[in-house]
Amino acid sequence: MAAQIIDGKQVAAGIRAELKDEVSRLKERGITPGLGVILVGDDPASVSYVTGKERACGEVGIYSDHNHLPAETSQADLVRLIGRLNKDPRIHGILVQLPLPKHLKESEVIFAIDPAKDVDGIHPVSVGKMVTGQKAFLSCTPHGVLQLLLRTGVRIEGSHVVIVGRSNLVGRPLANMLIQKSATGNATVTICHTRTKDLAHHTRQADILVAAAGQPRTITADMVREGAVVIDVGVTRVEDATKRQGFRLVGDVDFDAVKEKASLITPVPGGVGPMTITMLLYNTVESAKRAAGLV
Ligand code: GUN
Repeated sequence: MAAQIIDGKQVAAGIRAELKDEVSRLKERGITPGLGVILVGDDPASVSYVTGKERACGEVGIYSDHNHLPAETSQADLVRLIGRLNKDPRIHGILVQLPLPKHLKESEVIFAIDPAKDVDGIHPVSVGKMVTGQKAFLSCTPHGVLQLLLRTGVRIEGSHVVIVGRSNLVGRPLANMLIQKSATGNATVTICHTRTKDLAHHTRQADILVAAAGQPRTITADMVREGAVVIDVGVTRVEDATKRQGFRLVGDVDFDAVKEKASLITPVPGGVGPMTITMLLYNTVESAKRAAGLV
């Protein structure tokens, strides 16, 4: 039987509507949540993500401070800008779009962000708190995956989640969130990566399979158990002359074949992507509330 499609856009729209109401209530109290966005260089995918994040801020009433720096920006200048945003009381969250140009030291840049404004959930303090079960900003893509599962009624507790990919932005934090003693945790987790032997053996054990390898067609139908829930985090631009922009977005999952075996599946685009942006907005509103002593 063909899988039911998980509509990430619809789930995201529901959360954004809640956030919009919350932001207007905060504004009545004189509080406008603010996000400082930093983009270094002109990588087309990054430009497009940042544009989407800023548009989404506008839609829910979050103030966004756009900082587009040239690709050759020095480490010192970038860290100085982060320092300025750290001190700016209008800014409750800072997003440095990754990846950065090669000459910049990503870990040092992330370390410069005040953890109280790390709405991206990628500072070592945020990650360390999350791993040890303390309250922290959760990294947006894995948090979006969890919310998508929760709001679609997928049972996470006790299930075997197999994650393909061990990136700092998705695989690693997601695995740690899933083993927390929480409403979106209590799962048993297997992480697979480029050195995993017999990947299909592992993926076939999954009740919930998360593809986050960043490689199209990593997951084919033979790798999926009948009835599994399949979440596709991959987004790769593939040239396509029939499209106005000259490319289309493809996930890590061979969608057409896998949807015939899965019980639930996310599409690309329109699955996890809208949730990532939404959780960034959510964290920014949370941060504004914390700064005002409301939570
Ligand atoms: N690039 C792709 N995804 C992300 C993300 O979640 N955060 C940041 N900062 N950069 C990204």
